[in-house]
Amino acid sequence: MSLQSLLLLWILTLISLSCLLHAQQPYVRKATTDCDRADNSTSVLGYTCNGQNSTCQTYLIFRSIPPYNTVSSISGLLASDPIQLSRVNAVSGNQTFETNKEVIVPVNCSCSGEYYQVNASYVIEHDDTYLAIANNTYQGLSTCQALRNQNTLTTKNLYSGTRITVPIRCACPTKNQTDEGVNYLLSYLITPGDWVSRISRKFSVDTGNTLQANEISEDDPTIYPFTTLLVPLQNSPNSTTINNTWIYIVVGIISAVALLFLVIIIVFSVFFCRRKNKPDQSKNTDITLDSKSFESYEKTTGKSMEESEEFLESISGISQSLKVYKFEELELATENFSSKYWIKGSVYRGMINGSLAAIKKTDRDVTKEINILNKINHFNLIKLSGVCFDEGYWYLVFEYALNGSLTEWIYYNTSTKKVLSWEERMQIALDVASGLNYLHSYTNPPHVHKDIKTSNVLLDSDFRAKIANFSLARSADGEGGEFALTRHIVGTKGYMAPEYLENGYVSPKLDVYSFGIVMLEIVTGKEAAVAREAGKFFLPEALTAILGDENPKEKLKNFIDPSLRGDYPLDLALLIARLIDSCLRRDPAGRPAMDDIQQTLSNISNTFNWEEAENVPLHENSETTAT
Ligand SMILES: *[C@@H]1O[C@H](CO)[C@@H](O)[C@H](O)[C@H]1NC(C)=O
Ligand SMILES: *[C@@H]1O[C@H](CO)[C@@H](O)[C@H](O)[C@H]1NC(C)=O
Ligand SMILES: *[C@@H]1O[C@H](CO)[C@@H](O)[C@H](O)[C@H]1NC(C)=O
Ligand SMILES: *[C@@H]1O[C@H](CO)[C@@H](O)[C@H](O)[C@H]1NC(C)=O
Ligand SMILES: *[C@@H]1O[C@H](CO)[C@@H](O)[C@H](O)[C@H]1NC(C)=O
Ligand SMILES: *[C@@H]1O[C@H](CO)[C@@H](O)[C@H](O)[C@H]1NC(C)=O
Ligand SMILES: *[C@@H]1O[C@H](CO)[C@@H](O)[C@H](O)[C@H]1NC(C)=O
Repeated sequence: MSLQSLLLLWILTLISLSCLLHAQQPYVRKATTDCDRADNSTSVLGYTCNGQNSTCQTYLIFRSIPPYNTVSSISGLLASDPIQLSRVNAVSGNQTFETNKEVIVPVNCSCSGEYYQVNASYVIEHDDTYLAIANNTYQGLSTCQALRNQNTLTTKNLYSGTRITVPIRCACPTKNQTDEGVNYLLSYLITPGDWVSRISRKFSVDTGNTLQANEISEDDPTIYPFTTLLVPLQNSPNSTTINNTWIYIVVGIISAVALLFLVIIIVFSVFFCRRKNKPDQSKNTDITLDSKSFESYEKTTGKSMEESEEFLESISGISQSLKVYKFEELELATENFSSKYWIKGSVYRGMINGSLAAIKKTDRDVTKEINILNKINHFNLIKLSGVCFDEGYWYLVFEYALNGSLTEWIYYNTSTKKVLSWEERMQIALDVASGLNYLHSYTNPPHVHKDIKTSNVLLDSDFRAKIANFSLARSADGEGGEFALTRHIVGTKGYMAPEYLENGYVSPKLDVYSFGIVMLEIVTGKEAAVAREAGKFFLPEALTAILGDENPKEKLKNFIDPSLRGDYPLDLALLIARLIDSCLRRDPAGRPAMDDIQQTLSNISNTFNWEEAENVPLHENSETTAT
């Protein structure tokens, strides 16, 4: 075999290897988020107490990041001694570390029954989940499974301000390790791009020993970011251990030599990987976030006239409840769509057979929407009573909601409209929750509305709420179980859940988030969604701050819509505030299900009615509002 062919073979091997590594990245991410699985064949719940001693002094590696970038904040977070911490890192006690600096944290590790751990104490912040605490705040020095295992709080009850114990992963050397001269097992935090050999070299320890200490086989030494690796040390580490400059120089020279090969490899692997992954890549880039597409609708899929008419025939054949109108009938109902009958946008009021209806005109492909609406039947979801197709336009005939959209009623205004009472607001919230719960749990397949906002909540003559506008609704189990990726980000920005904005994830929890924003607006009489976009005053954050306060009730009084003039039971308002806060959690899994929300709201409203009936004075200021 010639030298060239050997070189080629080597390059090809590296290419396939790098392609392989690329393909494994997504798998890693999934594994770290799976908080529901506590596989105790791994060390996910902690390192077992198999050491010679049940307690030992050991070290952690933590990467400084604000607000945890000072000696005191890091030692506070990780239950370390600040004096020891500053000594081992050779800094003064008032030092602020530069971001991403590896800080050595000395701790006392001890066996708590089954697992070695350091008990750190942590106060829950807004939007926290066990995963966020373990992975983001503690950078992987704890796991969500261990947090769950050792804390009685359910994921639902992670209220801001609650103090929990965070078991930090540490271990004491076994008899065998001690015999080999190992005195410490340092908990190292793996970062993207780390290799066992690289980490071992950094601490001047043998790679084989590190692999053994972590029961990693040499055949598959893959390690994942945001997990810990135990590094067996003979001596206690110090700042020069991990910041040896000469190592960097040597590494630099080696890198320079390797660079030439690397360039060749990259060029080849990019070329080959591209070709192999082409369909996948186009899929990913499809998840675009075009700000212009907010508040806009999914593009019509370009159904032809004939297709639309065929569809119309098909529904008129099978549906008894859906009437197919002639265009002339609608013209008659709206006096040729005169401005007198115009409501807003492309929606008109119409008088059909002596009763009012809302008629929406559109050139979008609404066959999907019609199919959904035709299947649902619930008091709190606006009813589609008929359709019409004429000259490329669809006309949807809906039940008429006399009092228009919620938007017109809740924002603090000086118009002549009446102020909705607390009971009316709670009834509206319960109505929306009931409608969404029906959509999430009682339609087959389950559906997600995707565009819950006050302007899509309509009020009938009794101020009962009905959810409207299903143009963005889609089935929740479309592509991947409860979660599915969507390609186009649509909807209304201020109401949209972060996971959808960031990754295009669609699940019923998307509606839960939007519902939280709507509730916030109902309760405060302010536009939470708009304020959020302006970036000035972020109501959800203000709410969390209030709930974290020593005296949340006092603060809540100023937060709730002043036009209610204090006419609401403060105890129940606090429950509502907590409910809203939980709906707005960043982690979708941390948000309650619509089912629970409906139940909670229903209980609250029952309590309220009961107290009303008993004539119990609910608060200091008991004047009644006009109803
Ligand atoms: C894992 O947990 C189960 C139940 O808690 C227990 O029966 C089993 O022995 C555990 N396995 C290990 C390896 O600890
Ligand atoms: C274990 O404990 C003994 C006695 O307390 C001590 O001398 C020894 O250093 C400890 N070993 C480790 C690994 O900490
Ligand atoms: C660990 O224990 C030793 C002795 O018990 C104590 O002096 C030291 O302050 C402890 N360190 C921490 C971080 O608590
Ligand atoms: C930090 O502490 C040292 C002495 O421990 C002192 O000289 C220095 O002024 C302090 N720096 C700040 C910013 O407080
Ligand atoms: C740490 O906390 C666990 C329970 O959360 C407890 O069982 C254990 O005794 C604690 N360990 C120490 C050293 O305080
Ligand atoms: C873990 O935290 C890091 C850094 O904060 C973040 O980049 C990563 O996405 C997180 N992983 C998960 C699964 O949340
Ligand atoms: C300790 O070392 C001995 C001999 O090297 C080996 O047979 C034994 O399995 C080891 N024990 C553990 C727990 O690794």
